[in-house]
Amino acid sequence: MGFHDFVLLFCSIWCVFFVGSCSAQLQSSQTQVLLQLKKHLEYPRQLEIWRDRWTDLCSISSSGQVNVTCKDNFVTELSILGDKPTKGRDFDGFAIPNQTLSDIFSMDSFVATLARLTGLRVLSLVSLGMWGPLPDRFHRLYALEHLDLSSNYLYGSIPPKICTMVNLQTLGLGDNFFNGTIPNLFNSSSNLSVLSLRNNRLKGPFPPSILSVTSLKDIDMSSNQISGILQDFSALSSLEQLDLRENKLESFLPAMPKGLISLFLSRNSFSGEIPKRYGQLNGLRKLDVSFNALTGTAPAELFSLPNISYLNLASNLLNGPLQSHLRCSSQLIFVDISYNRLVGDLPSSLSTRSETRVVMSDGNCLSGSAQHQHAVSYCTEPHVKKKSYRVGIFVGVIVGILLISVVLALAIVITCKKFFLRGVSEKHLLHKTVQDSSYAPGFSSELVTNARYISETAKLGREDLPTCRSYSLEELKEATNNFDNSTFVGENIYGKLYRGKLESGIQIVIRSLPVSKKYSIRNFKLRLDLLAKLRHPHLVSLLGHCIDGVVGENNETNVFLIYEYVPNGTFQTYLSGDSPGKVFKWSERLSVLINIAKAVHFLHTGMIPGFFKNRLKTNNILLNENWMAKLSDYGLSIISEEADACGVKGESPNSWQMKMLEDDVYSFGFILLEALVGPSVSAKREAVVLNVMASFNSEDGWKQIVDPVVQATSSKESLFVVISITNKCISPESWNRPSIEDVLWNLQYASQIQATADGDHRI
Ligand SMILES: *[C@@H]1O[C@H](CO)[C@@H](O)[C@H](O)[C@H]1NC(C)=O
Ligand SMILES: *[C@@H]1O[C@H](CO)[C@@H](O)[C@H](O)[C@H]1NC(C)=O
Ligand SMILES: *[C@@H]1O[C@H](CO)[C@@H](O)[C@H](O)[C@H]1NC(C)=O
Ligand SMILES: *[C@@H]1O[C@H](CO)[C@@H](O)[C@H](O)[C@H]1NC(C)=O
Ligand SMILES: *[C@@H]1O[C@H](CO)[C@@H](O)[C@H](O)[C@H]1NC(C)=O
Ligand SMILES: *[C@@H]1O[C@H](CO)[C@@H](O)[C@H](O)[C@H]1NC(C)=O
Repeated sequence: MGFHDFVLLFCSIWCVFFVGSCSAQLQSSQTQVLLQLKKHLEYPRQLEIWRDRWTDLCSISSSGQVNVTCKDNFVTELSILGDKPTKGRDFDGFAIPNQTLSDIFSMDSFVATLARLTGLRVLSLVSLGMWGPLPDRFHRLYALEHLDLSSNYLYGSIPPKICTMVNLQTLGLGDNFFNGTIPNLFNSSSNLSVLSLRNNRLKGPFPPSILSVTSLKDIDMSSNQISGILQDFSALSSLEQLDLRENKLESFLPAMPKGLISLFLSRNSFSGEIPKRYGQLNGLRKLDVSFNALTGTAPAELFSLPNISYLNLASNLLNGPLQSHLRCSSQLIFVDISYNRLVGDLPSSLSTRSETRVVMSDGNCLSGSAQHQHAVSYCTEPHVKKKSYRVGIFVGVIVGILLISVVLALAIVITCKKFFLRGVSEKHLLHKTVQDSSYAPGFSSELVTNARYISETAKLGREDLPTCRSYSLEELKEATNNFDNSTFVGENIYGKLYRGKLESGIQIVIRSLPVSKKYSIRNFKLRLDLLAKLRHPHLVSLLGHCIDGVVGENNETNVFLIYEYVPNGTFQTYLSGDSPGKVFKWSERLSVLINIAKAVHFLHTGMIPGFFKNRLKTNNILLNENWMAKLSDYGLSIISEEADACGVKGESPNSWQMKMLEDDVYSFGFILLEALVGPSVSAKREAVVLNVMASFNSEDGWKQIVDPVVQATSSKESLFVVISITNKCISPESWNRPSIEDVLWNLQYASQIQATADGDHRI
């Protein structure tokens, strides 16, 4: 045997032995990984077939719910379909028994285990209750071609590096709780064809880099909170499905690629006209742009696209007549043009009763055979000002110049006055020590110079009311006939209320309240100035103040706050039926609630954000001569010790209830409850609420407690939206409660449903 042969023999033996044993070893390590994954997933029923490490997992025939595919002793596909779908939308980042995996589960260590399946190309783990943020190092599974983690409880951001997984063709993260922004790192080297992020809580803009991924066929980002504008999609030449329903997108409808088959853009805030070029999307089968603010005419070409079968243009501001000889594609089986501002005859192709086509046209001003229509004037009134582009730009430039001049002028004025006019920043305000130590000249005036503040004021400024100023006690005495008993209108924790009339003829309400000793006079005035800056159509405006005595010296000091007079009484009196003059129908109640939710939203997030403790109640909701609601007694916690200390007469102070009532969303929940059931029930607060909520949840229980007026004037669907949001607001756990923005959104939604329902009866 020559040396050469010897080497060959040695090699052969080595190969047979080593590689053989090696592959066996790999096989068992992969098995072990799978068994570890089973443990991570807390032994789901579907994985009972994976008994132990001697089971050949690759050769178990796929059961429909579990598929494992192997190649060369490596697992290449792992698909498990569990039975823990995401129920409801209440998940706040903590394990929920029987819904998510337990709180021992860690997404980090799960993915670390998973990454040992280095040959994995298909991974599908659906409805398994996995919860937690998706770890950054997920991209180490670089060989993945198809990834589906939908219907779990994943939250946080989508790891940006997922965009760099160049082999990925399918990415499915739908029905989770992702609440960050969508990463903007996609580039043309990506091979992604299906991207589904539907039904999460994703925020921020639609990432423009997606528009360079020309391999994309299907994009589904519906039901998120994606905002901003969309750019031209025509570069996505392979795109067939685009679903961006139920987001917060604005701007015009963007251009779309020629091959598009379905386009869903409903329930956003798109405006402008439907582009004529949509009439050339010859492959289009489904188009839904309903519930936006689209204007202009409905392009006739859309109806005759060769393959169009579903066309929904409902609830926009489309106007003008439809072509009388409108031609419809033979494929067209559903057309909805309802709730627009269309006039003229309903074209015969849409009006003839057809076995094969559903046409909805209610809520327009059409003549001929169309039913449930408004008078023509309704559709021709200029509801939305139509401006041409150029005018828009021109106006924009002028406004811009004006705004800059105003800012400059203000800056100069402020610099000049710096030594006696002091702006306030709220952060500084809320602590006496901080405030008083910055007593010296040169105090921050950032708030006043803040451009946002100026533009907001310009927008919200209420020119009809005088600006806030300081009044003398004599003026007030004159206005109220020396605080005559006949002018006394009531009293609450913030002090007594008097009604009066200023020399100028303006009617006012004066609130006298004792002053907290905590503050120095300057600090106190700064606080008053801050309150005076809160001007909003749904807040009762503060017109001025008067300080009698020396703040901080003795107990006798009183401050008088002068408010605008709102003539039509409180919302509570109407709800309790104590005021025979007016019965609030459901739609009217909704509009009051929306007004107040807007005011609260403004207090929380407006130009001077952070007014969170506003002691909301129906008693503090006043109605003006047009039945528009205004909130009173807001923001007083920053000046009144009473409110600060929760010392409410007749209620035990510092109890847990008081702590909860400080939460505006929680107290707003009770306002909602009163609007639903009347004040008597909700006055009993917590004791009864549990029962009430139980009735709401039971089959017909709500019928026994919901105010008969509400029952008679509401649609069930609208009512249930409000019942459900009420339920969430008065949840005992604060983290379970929605934001006021959510509440507002739900109310507006309920109101829209109601308007649609009312529109149906109207004719
Ligand atoms: C497993 O494969 C079968 C047949 O291909 C398929 O019907 C089933 O949906 C797959 N199961 C999972 C969980 O992907
Ligand atoms: C996302 O959700 C988690 C869990 O609910 C929460 O802790 C986190 O603050 C949220 N992040 C953002 C940016 O909203
Ligand atoms: C979870 O489900 C099991 C069986 O369905 C049940 O016995 C148990 O009470 C449930 N636990 C909770 C907290 O709902
Ligand atoms: C696209 O992204 C990949 C991964 O990040 C990177 O390697 C590649 O250079 C990028 N290509 C372009 C054209 O930017
Ligand atoms: C991209 O995906 C297609 C299938 O959709 C596949 O045939 C092709 O090989 C992939 N290209 C790369 C570079 O991964
Ligand atoms: C219409 O649909 C058919 C199949 O349903 C398809 O073959 C045809 O190409 C489509 N027409 C256009 C113009 O895309």
